[in-house]
Amino acid sequence: MDRNLAMEVVRVTEMAAIASARLMGRGTKNESDQAAVDAMRRAFDALPIDGTVVIGEGERDEAPMLYIGERVGKMGPGTPPVDIALDPLEGTNLCAFGRPGAISVVAIANRGHLLNAPDTYMEKLVVGPRAVGSIDLSKSPTENLKNIAKAMKRQVNELTVVILDRDRHAELIKEVRLAGARVRLIEDGDVAGGVASCFEDSGVDVLMGTGGAPEGVITAAAVRSVGGEMHGRLRPRNEQEAQRATKMGADVNKIYTAEELARGEVMFAATGVTTGDFLKGVRFYAGGCETHSVVMRSKTGTVRYITATHNLNKKPV
Ligand code: FBP
Repeated sequence: MDRNLAMEVVRVTEMAAIASARLMGRGTKNESDQAAVDAMRRAFDALPIDGTVVIGEGERDEAPMLYIGERVGKMGPGTPPVDIALDPLEGTNLCAFGRPGAISVVAIANRGHLLNAPDTYMEKLVVGPRAVGSIDLSKSPTENLKNIAKAMKRQVNELTVVILDRDRHAELIKEVRLAGARVRLIEDGDVAGGVASCFEDSGVDVLMGTGGAPEGVITAAAVRSVGGEMHGRLRPRNEQEAQRATKMGADVNKIYTAEELARGEVMFAATGVTTGDFLKGVRFYAGGCETHSVVMRSKTGTVRYITATHNLNKKPV
């Protein structure tokens, strides 16, 4: 994959972020999601790739755009065949209610290198570079926290754990609190939570708990690029989901590493929609707006933050 592609991909997340951020706080999650999808789909037309969406808005019959299997990109001689995992608006409710942490996100890998994750849940454990080698999803949260603290040369009570605020996490939250760690409950958006855990200055150190499986694959691409570590295990809600996962080639008993979820060379780009732990949201002013994005590549480990000002008179979104 051409390294310049990473700089191009960010345009796609910028456009989706601007379009959805315009509708922030209106309480209409479908409307802001649709705006992000439309803008991202249009932006893909200018991207020099031969892309196939492997994680997208749903199956072909349920999503008119950016559906799984859809070909996207400005194809031509020499354009790289790539697989794409995307979420035009990750945290639809966060955007709809003006809450922190909504992002627009895209991960790209060579063809066949992203796990075709079914639309089910995944149990996740994510840490940044300093804690690599210390996590094991087959162990208890308490054991993991002790090992993470040791690797990071801290006390457990100096760790902050991000967890989705869900009833299914009642036991997990109780255990993490008992172990002595600080807990940061988030309403939505565990991709941003996972990515933030990989950056020491984000104020969060670990992501624990169960969220969307597609979001898990996208998170893995970021973790790979930053050099953090992730374990993920599919958690189907019923037999039907388990069968579907197996049919798609996934193993519901396996603990996947980031390298197995997103293999080979990967790129990750995200733009903030509403301000969160690691990206600022879109800010509008007369005739334009400002976006904050991050672009990363696993090959070099380079992490670029891009602040862009957009003249919306010249380039309407
Ligand atoms: P959406 O953007 O699709 O609303 O997803 C938000 C999210 O919070 C993800 O970040 C997370 O992985 C998933 O939903 C958790 O699912 P659930 O809301 O069913 O617990």
